[in-house]
Amino acid sequence: MTMKPFLPFLTVGLFFLSACGLEKPPASLKFPESKVEAPAAAPAAPAAAAAPAAVPADPKLAAGKTVYDASCGGCHDAGMMGAPKPGDKAAWAPRIAQGVEVVTKNSIAGFTGKAGMMPAKGGNPALTDEQITNAVAYIIDKSK
Ligand code: HEC
Repeated sequence: MTMKPFLPFLTVGLFFLSACGLEKPPASLKFPESKVEAPAAAPAAPAAAAAPAAVPADPKLAAGKTVYDASCGGCHDAGMMGAPKPGDKAAWAPRIAQGVEVVTKNSIAGFTGKAGMMPAKGGNPALTDEQITNAVAYIIDKSK
């Protein structure tokens, strides 16, 4: 019983060992890799720690990032049509100075400013006010 969790590692280890001499890893390598995740609290940790670096720890900001990536980045990532880019502190400072509530309200209702037109909810009416609030918090967190 105690040996059971180690068996997949042995299998994976053997696969990697045997793959060392090959120029290209065999396609079958994919199979044991996917097996690693389930029993692998310890060895999977380094990979898991590296990936979420870009995802904020705060669950609201993480939820905001998801909304942003899906519905806002199209304009804001590229600075398209005057949309201020997250992280562009100079562009965001005067907006943040209005107060987060005002900025959030503008994002929910939409507005036309000096730079261009921000559509209500980024043009996605299916988004809830809370999702917009999270997305705005995510943008502001990156930009102050
Ligand atoms: C079609 C392009 C477009 C999309 C999509 C879009 N935005 Fe914008 N957004 C803009 C533009 C342009 C402005 C700048 C308007 C101005 O100040 O003239 C802006 C401004 C803003 C501001 C600043 C508000 C203020 O008061 O200064 C926030 C916050 C914002 N957008 C959030 C979002 C969020 C959140 C989403 C996704 C749900 C989103 N935007 C999607 C174009 C877009």
